[in-house]
Amino acid sequence: MPTSTAHVATERPERYIKQLVAHMGHKATAELTIDGRGTITFRHGGCVLSPAGDHLRLIATAADVEALAGVQDVVTRHLLRFATREELRVEWTAPMRGDAMRIVDPVAEDYVLTHCTPADELLQELVATTRDATGDAAGMQISHDEGALLTMLVRMVGARRAIEVGVFTGYSSLCVARALPADGLLLACDVSEEWTSIALPYWRRAGVADRIDLRIGPALDTLRALPAEPAFDFAFIDADKANYPAYYEEIVPRLSRGGLIVLDNVFQGGRVFDPAFQGDNHVAMRRLNEMVVADDRVESVMLPVRDGVTLVRKR
Ligand SMILES: C[S@@+](CC[C@H](N)C(=O)[O-])C[C@H]1O[C@@H](n2cnc3c(N)ncnc32)[C@H](O)[C@@H]1O
Repeated sequence: MPTSTAHVATERPERYIKQLVAHMGHKATAELTIDGRGTITFRHGGCVLSPAGDHLRLIATAADVEALAGVQDVVTRHLLRFATREELRVEWTAPMRGDAMRIVDPVAEDYVLTHCTPADELLQELVATTRDATGDAAGMQISHDEGALLTMLVRMVGARRAIEVGVFTGYSSLCVARALPADGLLLACDVSEEWTSIALPYWRRAGVADRIDLRIGPALDTLRALPAEPAFDFAFIDADKANYPAYYEEIVPRLSRGGLIVLDNVFQGGRVFDPAFQGDNHVAMRRLNEMVVADDRVESVMLPVRDGVTLVRKR
């Protein structure tokens, strides 16, 4: 349960951040960004400090509850000591597990869902069929709003050749393929004959079956067998999370300039924020998220859509 936040009312958030970063620089790794955010990293945890109008926002993270209490204590004591001209109240929230965080309030989530181009009857039928045929696995299907986002992005990029890693029953494939031109191509990768067989009649009914090249087998093998040329202009990655960094590295060189990669589930249900989660998927997703921001071949933006979506555009 290693994350906790505090909103400290003050007229001078920037000043406290500078003071704390300068002071902590002797005892920890402390950095100040040009836009006034401070990060302090101790051995077992850290704190991010940002100015938020008339508040100082603190986010403490650590590997366990004891370490978190230590981070909170150091930060609180120093802030109170620096506040010689006002009385600060530093009240931390109870420690929170990453997987218990609500990324977007359910009210906003529902509003978003009902205020984008609605899914047509075919997509709605595919949702119902998937639920009946796959039971709990149906939760893997992307939502209507994310599908609408994919369709819009493919159109905006003017994509002709796309890759999909993780087809399941074909919902996202439909959203991508429909936005391609009639002579476009979607290379769709999955390991499951059973799940993808549900997709085929829907692709046919949508009139896009001839532009989808379904490849059954581990997606890494399929990707590595492609010529290392920038022949694709769109990719959607939504498969086994531990392989995301490898998928990303295979796809970037095969993407044309201005091409877009969409990465799904980059929050891992909030677990990427919480260092207590060290499962293969969590570690891989944290690694991927760091790789993307450090990669100067691309520009990127992370969106709080559903379980987190990153858009990566090749320069
Ligand atoms: C989250 S689902 C994809 C959901 C899909 N995008 C949709 O809109 O319904 C993940 C899919 O990845 C596939 N998958 C898992 N490991 C894979 C691998 N190594 N190579 C290719 N596909 C894989 C699974 O069979 C599953 O269908």
